[in-house]
Amino acid sequence: MSSQVADKSFVTTFVVLISALALLATVLFMVGALVGVVGSVAPDDGSRKQVAVIERIKPVARVAFAVPKPAGAELRLSGQDVYNKVCMACHATGAAGAPKVGAKDQWEPRFAQGLDTLVKNAVNGIRGMPAKGGNPSLTEANIKDSVVYMLGETGIKTDAASAPAATVPVEVAPAAAPAPSN
Ligand code: HEC
Repeated sequence: MSSQVADKSFVTTFVVLISALALLATVLFMVGALVGVVGSVAPDDGSRKQVAVIERIKPVARVAFAVPKPAGAELRLSGQDVYNKVCMACHATGAAGAPKVGAKDQWEPRFAQGLDTLVKNAVNGIRGMPAKGGNPSLTEANIKDSVVYMLGETGIKTDAASAPAATVPVEVAPAAAPAPSN
Protein backbone atom coordinates (compact mmCIF):
# COMPACT_ATOMS: atom_id res chain seq x y z
CA MET A 1 0.00 0.00 0.00
CA SER A 2 2.68 2.46 1.01
CA SER A 3 4.73 1.46 -2.01
CA GLN A 4 1.70 2.27 -4.17
CA VAL A 5 1.58 5.73 -2.65
CA ALA A 6 5.28 6.12 -3.28
CA ASP A 7 4.76 5.00 -6.89
CA LYS A 8 2.00 7.48 -7.36
CA SER A 9 3.99 10.39 -5.97
CA PHE A 10 6.94 9.30 -8.11
CA VAL A 11 4.75 9.35 -11.20
CA THR A 12 3.36 12.75 -10.26
CA THR A 13 6.85 14.14 -9.71
CA PHE A 14 7.98 12.60 -12.98
CA VAL A 15 5.09 14.10 -14.93
CA VAL A 16 5.68 17.52 -13.38
CA LEU A 17 9.38 17.26 -14.18
CA ILE A 18 8.77 16.26 -17.79
CA SER A 19 6.23 19.07 -18.23
CA ALA A 20 8.68 21.56 -16.80
CA LEU A 21 11.40 20.35 -19.15
CA ALA A 22 9.05 20.51 -22.12
CA LEU A 23 8.07 24.05 -21.14
CA LEU A 24 11.70 25.02 -20.75
CA ALA A 25 12.53 23.56 -24.16
CA THR A 26 9.64 25.47 -25.72
CA VAL A 27 10.70 28.72 -24.09
CA LEU A 28 14.31 28.21 -25.17
CA PHE A 29 13.18 27.42 -28.68
CA MET A 30 11.07 30.57 -28.81
CA VAL A 31 13.87 32.70 -27.46
CA GLY A 32 16.18 31.18 -30.03
CA ALA A 33 13.71 31.87 -32.81
CA LEU A 34 13.22 35.42 -31.59
CA VAL A 35 16.94 36.06 -31.45
CA GLY A 36 17.22 34.66 -34.95
CA VAL A 37 14.52 37.01 -36.20
CA VAL A 38 15.92 40.01 -34.42
CA GLY A 39 19.40 39.18 -35.67
CA SER A 40 18.35 38.83 -39.27
CA VAL A 41 16.18 41.93 -39.44
CA ALA A 42 18.16 45.11 -39.12
CA PRO A 43 16.63 47.85 -36.97
CA ASP A 44 15.53 49.69 -40.08
CA ASP A 45 12.97 47.13 -41.23
CA GLY A 46 10.53 49.97 -41.76
CA SER A 47 12.71 51.29 -44.51
CA ARG A 48 12.97 47.81 -45.98
CA LYS A 49 9.25 47.85 -46.48
CA GLN A 50 9.58 51.24 -48.09
CA VAL A 51 12.29 49.88 -50.33
CA ALA A 52 10.02 47.03 -51.29
CA VAL A 53 7.33 49.53 -52.19
CA ILE A 54 9.79 51.49 -54.24
CA GLU A 55 10.92 48.31 -55.93
CA ARG A 56 7.34 47.86 -57.02
CA ILE A 57 6.80 51.39 -58.27
CA LYS A 58 10.11 51.78 -60.04
CA PRO A 59 9.30 50.44 -63.52
CA VAL A 60 8.16 53.95 -64.47
CA ALA A 61 11.66 55.29 -64.22
CA ARG A 62 13.27 52.10 -65.42
CA VAL A 63 11.54 52.16 -68.78
CA ALA A 64 12.61 55.73 -69.32
CA PHE A 65 16.24 54.92 -68.66
CA ALA A 66 16.45 51.53 -70.31
CA VAL A 67 15.78 52.95 -73.76
CA PRO A 68 19.22 53.70 -75.15
CA LYS A 69 19.16 57.15 -76.65
CA PRO A 70 21.93 59.51 -77.49
CA ALA A 71 22.88 61.58 -74.46
CA GLY A 72 20.76 64.66 -74.14
CA ALA A 73 18.03 63.37 -76.45
CA GLU A 74 15.69 62.41 -73.65
CA LEU A 75 14.10 64.68 -71.16
CA ARG A 76 15.92 64.48 -67.94
CA LEU A 77 13.79 64.16 -64.82
CA SER A 78 14.00 67.24 -62.67
CA GLY A 79 15.07 67.05 -59.05
CA GLN A 80 11.44 67.61 -58.13
CA ASP A 81 10.26 64.74 -60.36
CA VAL A 82 12.77 62.38 -58.81
CA TYR A 83 11.82 63.55 -55.35
CA ASN A 84 8.11 63.02 -56.03
CA LYS A 85 8.65 59.58 -57.53
CA VAL A 86 11.23 58.19 -55.16
CA CYS A 87 12.53 60.25 -52.27
CA MET A 88 9.22 61.59 -51.01
CA ALA A 89 8.22 58.16 -49.73
CA CYS A 90 10.60 58.65 -46.83
CA HIS A 91 11.72 62.24 -46.85
CA ALA A 92 8.27 63.80 -46.74
CA THR A 93 7.32 62.06 -43.52
CA GLY A 94 10.68 61.26 -41.99
CA ALA A 95 9.96 57.55 -42.29
CA ALA A 96 12.68 55.28 -40.97
CA GLY A 97 14.47 58.30 -39.52
CA ALA A 98 14.96 60.06 -42.82
CA PRO A 99 15.67 63.78 -42.53
CA LYS A 100 12.37 65.46 -43.32
CA VAL A 101 12.02 68.00 -46.07
CA GLY A 102 11.35 71.34 -44.45
CA ALA A 103 13.06 70.42 -41.17
CA LYS A 104 16.08 72.67 -41.34
CA ASP A 105 17.47 71.44 -38.03
CA GLN A 106 17.57 67.91 -39.43
CA TRP A 107 19.26 68.88 -42.66
CA GLU A 108 21.75 71.50 -41.52
CA PRO A 109 24.15 69.16 -39.70
CA ARG A 110 24.04 66.86 -42.72
CA PHE A 111 24.58 69.68 -45.17
CA ALA A 112 27.60 70.67 -43.10
CA GLN A 113 29.30 67.59 -44.60
CA GLY A 114 29.11 69.27 -47.98
CA LEU A 115 26.76 68.69 -50.88
CA ASP A 116 29.11 66.23 -52.56
CA THR A 117 29.16 64.02 -49.47
CA LEU A 118 25.38 64.10 -49.21
CA VAL A 119 25.06 63.13 -52.86
CA LYS A 120 27.65 60.39 -52.47
CA ASN A 121 25.85 58.97 -49.44
CA ALA A 122 22.53 59.11 -51.23
CA VAL A 123 24.05 57.32 -54.24
CA ASN A 124 25.78 54.63 -52.20
CA GLY A 125 23.26 54.43 -49.39
CA ILE A 126 23.91 55.10 -45.73
CA ARG A 127 22.28 53.28 -42.79
CA GLY A 128 18.49 53.49 -43.38
CA MET A 129 19.00 55.36 -46.62
CA PRO A 130 18.98 52.83 -49.49
CA ALA A 131 21.38 53.36 -52.39
CA LYS A 132 19.77 55.78 -54.85
CA GLY A 133 16.65 55.68 -52.70
CA GLY A 134 16.22 52.05 -53.80
CA ASN A 135 15.98 52.95 -57.46
CA PRO A 136 19.15 51.89 -59.30
CA SER A 137 17.94 53.35 -62.59
CA LEU A 138 18.54 56.85 -61.28
CA THR A 139 21.76 58.54 -62.30
CA GLU A 140 24.06 60.38 -59.98
CA ALA A 141 22.83 63.60 -61.59
CA ASN A 142 19.23 62.64 -60.73
CA ILE A 143 20.28 62.10 -57.15
CA LYS A 144 22.14 65.37 -56.99
CA ASP A 145 19.17 67.25 -58.44
CA SER A 146 16.79 65.73 -55.95
CA VAL A 147 19.12 66.39 -53.02
CA VAL A 148 19.42 70.00 -54.13
CA TYR A 149 15.66 70.14 -54.49
CA MET A 150 15.08 68.79 -50.98
CA LEU A 151 17.62 71.21 -49.53
CA GLY A 152 15.99 74.06 -51.43
CA GLU A 153 12.54 73.13 -50.14
CA THR A 154 14.04 73.11 -46.67
CA GLY A 155 15.42 76.59 -47.14
CA ILE A 156 19.06 75.62 -47.52
CA LYS A 157 20.78 77.24 -50.45
CA THR A 158 23.37 75.27 -52.37
CA ASP A 159 25.69 76.47 -55.10
CA ALA A 160 24.10 73.93 -57.39
CA ALA A 161 20.65 75.39 -56.74
CA SER A 162 21.43 78.39 -58.87
CA ALA A 163 22.63 76.23 -61.75
CA PRO A 164 19.99 75.28 -64.33
CA ALA A 165 20.09 71.69 -63.20
CA ALA A 166 16.41 70.95 -63.61
CA THR A 167 15.72 70.96 -67.33
CA VAL A 168 18.99 71.50 -69.15
CA PRO A 169 20.85 68.20 -69.45
CA VAL A 170 24.23 69.73 -68.65
CA GLU A 171 25.36 66.71 -66.73
CA VAL A 172 24.39 64.02 -69.19
CA ALA A 173 28.06 63.36 -69.68
CA PRO A 174 29.26 60.26 -71.54
CA ALA A 175 30.28 58.77 -68.21
CA ALA A 176 26.68 58.72 -67.00
CA ALA A 177 25.22 57.28 -70.17
CA PRO A 178 26.82 53.80 -70.69
CA ALA A 179 25.08 50.56 -69.84
CA PRO A 180 23.23 50.62 -66.51
CA SER A 181 25.44 48.68 -64.14
CA ASN A 182 22.77 46.81 -62.28
C1 HEC B 1 13.36 54.00 -47.93
C2 HEC B 1 13.34 55.35 -47.41
C3 HEC B 1 14.16 56.37 -48.16
C4 HEC B 1 14.06 56.75 -49.47
C5 HEC B 1 13.10 56.24 -50.53
C6 HEC B 1 15.02 57.80 -49.65
N1 HEC B 1 15.70 58.03 -48.49
FE1 HEC B 1 17.18 59.35 -48.20
N2 HEC B 1 17.38 58.78 -46.28
C7 HEC B 1 16.62 57.82 -45.66
C8 HEC B 1 17.03 57.66 -44.30
C9 HEC B 1 16.44 56.72 -43.27
C10 HEC B 1 18.09 58.58 -44.11
C11 HEC B 1 18.90 58.80 -42.83
C12 HEC B 1 20.10 57.87 -42.86
C13 HEC B 1 20.96 58.07 -41.65
O1 HEC B 1 21.75 59.01 -41.64
O2 HEC B 1 20.84 57.27 -40.73
C14 HEC B 1 18.28 59.26 -45.37
C15 HEC B 1 19.25 60.22 -45.58
C16 HEC B 1 19.41 60.87 -46.77
C17 HEC B 1 20.40 61.89 -47.01
C18 HEC B 1 21.42 62.39 -46.00
C19 HEC B 1 22.67 61.58 -46.12
C20 HEC B 1 23.74 62.04 -45.16
O3 HEC B 1 24.91 61.94 -45.53
O4 HEC B 1 23.42 62.48 -44.06
C21 HEC B 1 20.26 62.31 -48.30
C22 HEC B 1 21.07 63.36 -49.00
C23 HEC B 1 19.19 61.55 -48.87
N3 HEC B 1 18.70 60.69 -47.92
C24 HEC B 1 18.75 61.69 -50.15
C25 HEC B 1 17.75 60.93 -50.73
C26 HEC B 1 17.33 61.07 -52.09
C27 HEC B 1 17.92 62.04 -53.08
C28 HEC B 1 16.33 60.17 -52.29
C29 HEC B 1 15.56 59.90 -53.57
C30 HEC B 1 16.32 59.63 -54.74
C31 HEC B 1 16.13 59.47 -51.04
N4 HEC B 1 17.00 59.97 -50.11
C32 HEC B 1 15.21 58.46 -50.84
C33 HEC B 1 15.59 57.09 -46.24
C34 HEC B 1 15.20 57.18 -47.55
